[in-house]
Amino acid sequence: MTIQLERSSVQHDLAALVGRRTSGYSLEAPFYTSQEVFDLDMAAIWTKHWLFVAAEAEVPEPGDFVTVEVGPSSVIIVRDDDEEVRAFHNVCRHRGSRILDDACGSVGNLVCPYHHWTYNVDGRLLHADNQPATFDRSRFGLKPVHVRNVGGLVFICLADEPPADFDDVAARIEPYLAPYQLGRAKVAHQVDLVEQGNWKLVMENNRECYHCDGHPELLTAYFPLHGYTADDVPPRLRRTWDRFEKATAALEASCVRQNFPMETMRELDERPTGFMISHAPLDGAGKSYTEGGEAVCRKRLGTIADAVFGDFHLHMQPNSWFHMLSDNAVVFTVLPLGPDRTFLRTTWLVREDAEEGVDYDVATLTHVWNATNTQDSAFVARAQRGVRDPGYEPGPYSEVEGDVDAFVTWYVNRVRAHLS
Ligand code: FES
Repeated sequence: MTIQLERSSVQHDLAALVGRRTSGYSLEAPFYTSQEVFDLDMAAIWTKHWLFVAAEAEVPEPGDFVTVEVGPSSVIIVRDDDEEVRAFHNVCRHRGSRILDDACGSVGNLVCPYHHWTYNVDGRLLHADNQPATFDRSRFGLKPVHVRNVGGLVFICLADEPPADFDDVAARIEPYLAPYQLGRAKVAHQVDLVEQGNWKLVMENNRECYHCDGHPELLTAYFPLHGYTADDVPPRLRRTWDRFEKATAALEASCVRQNFPMETMRELDERPTGFMISHAPLDGAGKSYTEGGEAVCRKRLGTIADAVFGDFHLHMQPNSWFHMLSDNAVVFTVLPLGPDRTFLRTTWLVREDAEEGVDYDVATLTHVWNATNTQDSAFVARAQRGVRDPGYEPGPYSEVEGDVDAFVTWYVNRVRAHLS
């Protein structure tokens, strides 16, 4: 009884906290610092929504796997013998042992190290020693996790009933992703970072370029104009805006030539599977994220015909963003580790037949985003130190932080839906 009362009291406080959220302002400190809110986030967000967890290119052959940790859940993403990407709880159906320990690898079958129950990579239990004749193996296959492969991007959902609107989002995204053929790309490099901040601070930081003066490498290729219009661009960015308009016209002409869809979609806050797609030119040479916008790989992705094809970017709530260039793609996944620690994985994809040392070198390919990630990590850690200070109170978003507000609004909407 006591425990129930305490839980009820905590839930009441959380409901009040969520109810007090002021639109246009950053969240109150407990959203970034408290274990109770972190637990609520796990229940309301991370176990209820579709999460981007891997590029299909990370599991190119049957038996290739990656494991992903979402709170207490470990999930195996594996390509089966029919080439389908599948997902299973990394929990043995005998007495619950973890099956795979490694973050990635390749297996013939999935063998539990404890008593050696053996599963096919499609999840079927193949072998279990010393069972009675009545033992029905078909009842003890690995428990599946919902998984979707959208244009070479692998999403999972831990809910029994995932948000149904994912079908609509996937159908609208796929025509944009298809020309890049990410499912047939190869992983050129991958970097994992542990950020010293709450996952929402990591996402908020990604959703604005108000801080982009802190990214000198990125700014040699990226137009720091996110959120501006021709009417409100500040004088210091007027010449940049003029270059941006010329580059936008050239990009639109290239899209027409390539029959590439051009509609921008921004549905970030109201729907369960919030998303945004946008296609923007790059500065300088306009080809890729290098200093000066030069290409990083001699081979272009998929069927992309023009080297100067800007950055097709996709944002997905709650945990991912993607940059597709003509010659490489950079995909980011965020996973929560605790109230003040967050995992960020960055994966660079190139055409499957591109050769390291011949068509690209990893240092050039990764330079801008490695530098940008390091700088962002420092911003996030700085923000975390600030929001846990008793002197913190929510502050107002600027006019160019609309996507931060949209992210926070999405989050609050989803938490409210959970609590109700
Ligand atoms: Fe896996 Fe026993 S717990 S075989």
